[in-house]
Amino acid sequence: MDDKATIQTKSRYNRIAPVYDLMEAIVERFAFRRWRERLWSQVDGNRILEVGVGTGKNISHYPRGVQVTAVDLSDKMLERARRRAQELDSEVDLRLMDAQRLAFPDAAFDAAVATFVFCSVPDPVLGLRELGRVVRPGGQILLLEHVRVNKPVIGKLMDLLDPFVVRLMGPHINRRTVENVRKAGLEIERVEELAPGGLVKLIVARTKQGQIGG
Ligand SMILES: C[S@@+](CC[C@H](N)C(=O)[O-])C[C@H]1O[C@@H](n2cnc3c(N)ncnc32)[C@H](O)[C@@H]1O
Repeated sequence: MDDKATIQTKSRYNRIAPVYDLMEAIVERFAFRRWRERLWSQVDGNRILEVGVGTGKNISHYPRGVQVTAVDLSDKMLERARRRAQELDSEVDLRLMDAQRLAFPDAAFDAAVATFVFCSVPDPVLGLRELGRVVRPGGQILLLEHVRVNKPVIGKLMDLLDPFVVRLMGPHINRRTVENVRKAGLEIERVEELAPGGLVKLIVARTKQGQIGG
């Protein structure tokens, strides 16, 4: 794993934590909120892991009566998630942790969720493999992700702009997350196209039955 990239990712999110919610306010209101609801309505199981919880925008969407453990690499983002959890009276267990090396035993969860996270995790395949390890065999992995558009001109443009966007904001805009999910040894159940051109996808995958860690 590239530790330097992980440290940089952490410091970028620590830097933008105070303005993150403001930056996303419009897309959150008109699109993200609806997509979050769609994702969480499909989560199956009682022991749920959320990785890259950020400022806690998913907390209000957690299904009732489930145990959620949520982790993030950035202490400043997590601080905001803690505040939000208190305001919402949520019992989510929030922890500072790297998705690329989760401190949980194999098969500790029934499902794992990440929203707009694998665009930022330095080694996404490693992180997705970790999700596969900590989710029980046959359990769900649900991702909401913006990805590289599969069109020659726009895709190339995204590749060119990517280094600038990463430095400025943190996420990569040209990740091939569906392919990464496969590379991590997870089985894709379905991919829902949420935005035009396949820019945002809801990916529902499962860990293989009878196999831990993909
Ligand atoms: C674009 S934000 C999304 C936050 C939140 N999931 C949401 O939907 O608003 C990406 C989040 O992923 C976190 N992140 C990036 N790399 C990570 C890693 N390796 N392990 C855990 N969290 C990570 C960042 O700190 C940041 O909070």
